[in-house]
Amino acid sequence: MSHEYFNPVRSIYGAGALSSLPKLVGERRALLVTFPEAHMLGLVGRILGLLGDRLDGVIDDIRPNPDVAELHAQYEAFWHTQRDVEVIVAVGGGSAIDTAKALMVGTESGRFDDLVTALASGKPFVPARVKTLIAVPTTAGTGSEVTPWATLWDRGRQLKHSLHLKETWPTVALIDPELMLSLPAPVTLQSGLDALSHALESIWNVNANPVSDTFAVAAVHEILDALPRLIERPGDLALRGRMALAALKAGMAFSNTRTALAHSISYEMTLRYGLPHGIACSFPLPMVLERAIGRRTDRDGVLERALGRLDDAPRRLAAFIESLGVKTRFADYGVSDEQAQQMIAHALTGPRGRNFIGAGC
Ligand SMILES: [Fe+2]
Repeated sequence: MSHEYFNPVRSIYGAGALSSLPKLVGERRALLVTFPEAHMLGLVGRILGLLGDRLDGVIDDIRPNPDVAELHAQYEAFWHTQRDVEVIVAVGGGSAIDTAKALMVGTESGRFDDLVTALASGKPFVPARVKTLIAVPTTAGTGSEVTPWATLWDRGRQLKHSLHLKETWPTVALIDPELMLSLPAPVTLQSGLDALSHALESIWNVNANPVSDTFAVAAVHEILDALPRLIERPGDLALRGRMALAALKAGMAFSNTRTALAHSISYEMTLRYGLPHGIACSFPLPMVLERAIGRRTDRDGVLERALGRLDDAPRRLAAFIESLGVKTRFADYGVSDEQAQQMIAHALTGPRGRNFIGAGC
């Protein structure tokens, strides 16, 4: 049996890596896409200092979980006024990078609705124009810097869209743990648990392959050890570096498998109950692990490499997550047993849920 692993993103990693940005941009015009606090944190100033007059504009009002209602104006303003920009530099968490992925693919008309209509219909979308994306994560978790996917929310219609095109791979992931030093504790925790979820979801996944497994197992080991220490010592650059690398490995793992049941559940928990992504996709992990064990011998072997003995692994995983202050039962979030069973059944039929090795059993 043969396997395939593919990831075209050039990853540059290490403290101070941001300084390679001018060389990566070259003489091209660039747009910075970032989150509102980036000004106060001095990030916008640093990027301006690095790129000088090559920086053509800044979009700095990216909110968590980008919504099509907000993206509409950003997209159309960008494609109408900044056609000379060749490179989008996305600095932030998954929301900034996902927003940049939506911006980078231009519709023929320049209208955002044409993109949303294509995503909603499931019909193939071929962008008329494409910008280059350099992704600079400031959180250790999203993995969006090494995947082609973006989640775009439509809260008005209680929907989420998945953008996934061959054009939406970032060209470069610039991973500098120094940029993560100022990350607030809740975001450090949520993004770290998101990375743990990416790693585990790539193991109990019908698309797993030996390379994604290698990345995933290494990521799980590192996150279980480093995340609790980092929560205690958020200013420790070495720990920030370890979590940044672990999140990168988890990203490399699920860049080839996509996520599975826990993420499928998370979308409903975020839309209906407002849970932050990292909590929504990690609190169900012990329950999903319990469902995964015993499904496939080869997956059991990889889960055992990641988590140790499987007989009490769900209990130990729940204890780990709860030790970080995150509850692991649906009831803790106001979801009754009956609602939870309905939600799980529905999640198993979604595109991510069907990646789970226990789907259809
Ligand atoms: Fe995630």
